[in-house]
Amino acid sequence: MKKIYLLFLIIYLINQISFGQSEEQFPNIHLDEWKVMHVSKKATYDWFTGAKYGMFIHWGLYAIPGGIWKGKTMEEMHNPPDVAEWIMHCAKIPRSEYAELAKQFNPVKFNADSIAKLAKDAGMKYLVITSKHHDGFALFDSKVSTFDVMDATPFKRDIIREMYEACNKKGLEFGIYYSHNVDWRDGADDRAFDMIEKNIDVGNPDRAFGANTWDPSPNTFNEYLQNKAYPQMKELLHNYPGMKCLWYDMGLRMTSEESYNFYKLAFDIQPQIIVTDRISNGFGDYLITGDNTIPASSVKLTRPWETVGTLNNSWGYKSYDNDWKTPKEILFWLIEIVSKGGNYMLNIGPTGEGVVPTQSVNDLKAVGKWLALNGEAIYSTEKWHITHEGPTVLNFSSTEDRAAKGFDSHFTPLDFWFTKKNNFLYAISIEKPLDKIIIKSFNNIIGKISYVEILGKGKVKFKQTNDALIVTTPKEFKPANGFVVKVEL
Ligand code: GLC
Repeated sequence: MKKIYLLFLIIYLINQISFGQSEEQFPNIHLDEWKVMHVSKKATYDWFTGAKYGMFIHWGLYAIPGGIWKGKTMEEMHNPPDVAEWIMHCAKIPRSEYAELAKQFNPVKFNADSIAKLAKDAGMKYLVITSKHHDGFALFDSKVSTFDVMDATPFKRDIIREMYEACNKKGLEFGIYYSHNVDWRDGADDRAFDMIEKNIDVGNPDRAFGANTWDPSPNTFNEYLQNKAYPQMKELLHNYPGMKCLWYDMGLRMTSEESYNFYKLAFDIQPQIIVTDRISNGFGDYLITGDNTIPASSVKLTRPWETVGTLNNSWGYKSYDNDWKTPKEILFWLIEIVSKGGNYMLNIGPTGEGVVPTQSVNDLKAVGKWLALNGEAIYSTEKWHITHEGPTVLNFSSTEDRAAKGFDSHFTPLDFWFTKKNNFLYAISIEKPLDKIIIKSFNNIIGKISYVEILGKGKVKFKQTNDALIVTTPKEFKPANGFVVKVEL
């Protein structure tokens, strides 16, 4: 009897855990109520699936140490993940010691308008910023916690409000990230302890993943929810009306009832806002396919989805990580994702002074230039039945994977990614063309092509055979980061 009980408990707990990867899960309670709310957000899904490219911002107290604590890098401390916003966890910093950082947080160089302008120049359509990350520090004016930018820092400016207003002015859609489950300052994590103590992480070593096991707060998790997380979410939703995306994160260990509460409170205040699946327990309106992870073409996703990516290998500012993606690599991620029907939200991590690292700025602007010319093949497009042709295959399954493998950006002129809009098809290359542009997937079998154009160059002559579409490359046409061929069927 005991054994059966334990088995059920383990199955139940495994069901509860979700790291928000691409696996689709649906609620097992409140399913009917959820469905009604979920389908009512069609206008936002329509906007979202057309937007394609957004900016993520990870910013908070962790930007001050920038990945180094008491002279040691995160890697030297051997307590991954080594992304900079996890420094409190990595170095097991006591809560009171970590809170000292707030007294130094005075990022006078922060300028919301220039960040919004950067996102716009980069060709991005929306922006999501961390309003409270796992460290529990709020970047907005919270009345239910003094561990916020207004009460605990000399800066005393509501960063979320400034960013929200700047985005409104620039015509960028806005959203917030909120770590609803993990809160190293006030989240108690008693459940994780319980699980460790009772040894119910057998077979699941990640049971206590992300929990503050070094200096947990004295309250219960439920008190944290009632006194901090639910009220803060309500504050955010009341403070900043008209938001599009709500980025809950790391809902592991959360019960279905709690995930539902987070979903419902958002719907009650802002019915249009769409919620990430990292809310957990299947309540997501859209799917996050993993950090720096592109789903394989074979994965069937029935809800809108987004891949989030870093520019180097960290979300928060990491002073010694200079492994920056080049504009070409960013383009690869963007077109690989868009060709599969998803969105790409790319992250910046401002410094403790509020400065966006120069390399990020330059790379984003370079991609923005490409998009200014070729964006027609990206925005408001759909997935075609073929997503890519050509020899290059690149797969990254996590941030750590990308960090370890590095990036080899040698694509070939035979690589094309495809998108579709009405009766137009687009073939996207990120290399200089050869003398002839040969696109196999545009052969006779797909139907008769009536018109061919290279974006930015205009109409070109072509031949369509049983094997391919063949275009003679215009003279002196050598775009370093590639080009787009648009055809009409
Ligand atoms: C993970 C990490 C977190 C980061 C996020 C971005 O959940 O815990 O630090 O904010 O991924 O997707």
